Amino acid sequence: MDHADHPTAVLPGDVRIPLLGFGTWQATGEAGYRAVLDALDAGYRHIDTATMYGNEEEVGRAVRESGLRREDVFLTTKLPPERVGRERETIEASLRALDVDHVDLWLVHWPPSAPGDLIPVWREMLAARDAGLARAVGVSNFSTGQIDELIQATEENPAVNQIKWSPFLYDRQRHAEHRDRGVVLEGYSPFKTSDLSDPVLTRIAGAHNVSPAQVVLRWHIDHEIVAIPKSVTPERIRANADVFGFSLTAEEIRDIDALGKP
Ligand SMILES: NC(=O)c1ccc[n+]([C@@H]2O[C@H](COP(=O)([O-])OP(=O)(O)OC[C@H]3O[C@@H](n4cnc5c(N)ncnc54)[C@H](OP(=O)(O)O)[C@@H]3O)[C@@H](O)[C@H]2O)c1
Repeated sequence: MDHADHPTAVLPGDVRIPLLGFGTWQATGEAGYRAVLDALDAGYRHIDTATMYGNEEEVGRAVRESGLRREDVFLTTKLPPERVGRERETIEASLRALDVDHVDLWLVHWPPSAPGDLIPVWREMLAARDAGLARAVGVSNFSTGQIDELIQATEENPAVNQIKWSPFLYDRQRHAEHRDRGVVLEGYSPFKTSDLSDPVLTRIAGAHNVSPAQVVLRWHIDHEIVAIPKSVTPERIRANADVFGFSLTAEEIRDIDALGKP
């Protein structure tokens, strides 16, 4: 499948986020640079980084040296909560490190520890978006209640909530709460929170001649949940991107759903 055909979800402002992205936490230095270059070569067109990961420069260098056009790569970075009050200088530093004039998605990495900071931070995110520094803005590790507070105060829903997610954390109601609010669910740590030797996953993987890890990623995509697997291993980087040559049946999806919360 050509990467241009990779499935996407639509964010406010008609911004398209590829459902498969590449995670870069703990992928730093030369290994991080290599991993992102390998990922772009393997067909990923969405890279997830954060101020906290300390690899924005390497991510930017890999994107530049991939030869791809900037507009063909979806870039996410994140605001650490301790930067409350310094939001604008933080995104400007991210843009300098990435060597781009805007990111595609900027997220609040965690809810600020002082509840009173929640709305002011969100207003700063929206202002950065309106200034053209990010095409879309969203949150990470937010509860539905915290998302509702943002919407009530500003009438602007976060484009995305990036939270820990996998078949073993599947929660139909939480997913529906996001959909109802127009918030795209982006899952992180798909493998770290999965038992890849689980018999349900190995049975379904065997039926499609793929790996349990590929089944986990395909399951996210079939639910229209963004998945951002991380790897610094070239074979895994390629295999994790090779999830568009098969699809799961409705029954298989139900069986995988059942690994999570009833
Ligand atoms: N917003 C947040 O608070 C937050 C928190 C955590 C993560 N994230 C984001 O989500 C991304 C993914 O989450 P994550 O890095 O925590 O965990 P993950 O993607 O679930 O797992 C990464 C681990 O799985 C291994 N792995 C990769 N492909 C595999 C495969 N096909 N089979 C078996 N093992 C495989 C990797 O090893 P190798 O690298 O050695 O190949 C690495 O040890 C992060 O990189 C980051 O971008 C965000």
